[in-house]
Amino acid sequence: MNVNRRKFLTQSVTISAGLASLSTQHLSQERSSTKYRVGIVGCGRMGQHFADVYQALPDTELVAIAEWNSERRKVVGKRYGVKALYKDVNAMLKEVVPDLVAVITPSKFMKEAVIASAEAGVKGVSTDKPIAATLADADAMVAICEKRGVVFSGGNLQRAMPEVQEAAERLKSGQYGSPEGIAIHGFGGEISGGGCQHLSVLRLFSGSEVEEVLAWAGPPEALKKNDDKGLNVNALFNLSRGPDCQVFGLTQPYGQKQPSGVDVWSKDALVRWRWKSPEIYLGFNASGERKQINPSYRPFAWRSIIDEIPSLRKTNNYLVSSIRSFIDAVKTKSELWISGHDLRQALEIAIACKLSAQLGNRSIKLPLEDRSLTLYPRPYRWLGGDETDRPQSLEDAKGGEI
Ligand SMILES: NC(=O)c1ccc[n+]([C@@H]2O[C@H](COP(=O)([O-])OP(=O)(O)OC[C@H]3O[C@@H](n4cnc5c(N)ncnc54)[C@H](O)[C@@H]3O)[C@@H](O)[C@H]2O)c1
Repeated sequence: MNVNRRKFLTQSVTISAGLASLSTQHLSQERSSTKYRVGIVGCGRMGQHFADVYQALPDTELVAIAEWNSERRKVVGKRYGVKALYKDVNAMLKEVVPDLVAVITPSKFMKEAVIASAEAGVKGVSTDKPIAATLADADAMVAICEKRGVVFSGGNLQRAMPEVQEAAERLKSGQYGSPEGIAIHGFGGEISGGGCQHLSVLRLFSGSEVEEVLAWAGPPEALKKNDDKGLNVNALFNLSRGPDCQVFGLTQPYGQKQPSGVDVWSKDALVRWRWKSPEIYLGFNASGERKQINPSYRPFAWRSIIDEIPSLRKTNNYLVSSIRSFIDAVKTKSELWISGHDLRQALEIAIACKLSAQLGNRSIKLPLEDRSLTLYPRPYRWLGGDETDRPQSLEDAKGGEI
């Protein structure tokens, strides 16, 4: 593949123009359209970020909050000016059925809230990571949303970053040549809770599903536990198309730690996601190293929303773009940038990795037949801060606004 810079730039403009409209829409158009009524279920640390965004967007209105902790419930109700306050999703749905429900409870409670919302007739429901511990629970959420025609969105994941989506479109178009290799780096610590970020980007960049897993993992004490905490995984994934994916854990053979992320490369190009806008390398310099170029990603039109919310800047732009993709999918049936289905697939791959390692590096084929297989995330993700000695203080929950 020979890609000169001019051709590359022309192609990137053409491809970007084909991306979902969220990077180009004019805010003024949105302001005149109907407002979607939004309910938040679980309004702790992450739920408050969601609430901030939904409040700042011109076409959404935060109408109800279900929050288990009564003191925090009062505080966030006042902070966001929401009077319809409930203890849990069922209490909320008895009185209010919002158009969109964002479920940001600890993972243990996501299934109940997603299913109840879908059954109550919402247009869309979103969740966050990890979606569940048991495969059958994730299946049940995906299935009910499909059955009821409810859009089922993922959450605050890097896969929903506009630049990650644009890099994937360019890869898909063949602009960077035919992939010769693909690798995940830094797959460890929490292969489901945090690892779903890598796995979601891998599936997007490769345009494929993981069909077979062969994994080695340690340390032995982490492999014996029923959660994903502290597990370091090296693996080989067979993908439904393209080259196999090599998966490197936290430890590296060369002393220097390779930053965590996903690489896809062809003869002349390398696309490198490292928890921010993907880096693009085209061609080589005189010493044979790949040359990094300016990727010239299309500007994200909703950037101003991020700038309006100081507490959001650290999360970059992918919470806003994830939510925009969710709203657009409800409005126009466009493809979600991160879906509940994507999170279910990530859980399944993580479970297969642990199982393969536990069985002495046995090859595991996906989809897994045994849907009762379970991998818990670390306790904070599963049960939340209040239950794991990291409660959010009321001062924090007030957000400095009251
Ligand atoms: N995507 C990301 O970047 C990211 C970052 C942090 C956390 N998370 C995920 O978000 C989820 C929540 O994390 P957090 O940091 O906000 O935790 P948190 O403990 O700060 O907040 C959780 C809130 O949910 C409430 N809650 C618990 N059970 C409930 C129920 N049944 N109904 C209603 N409310 C309930 C709690 O009272 C608490 O206020 C976890 O699954 C975590 O893994 C994702």
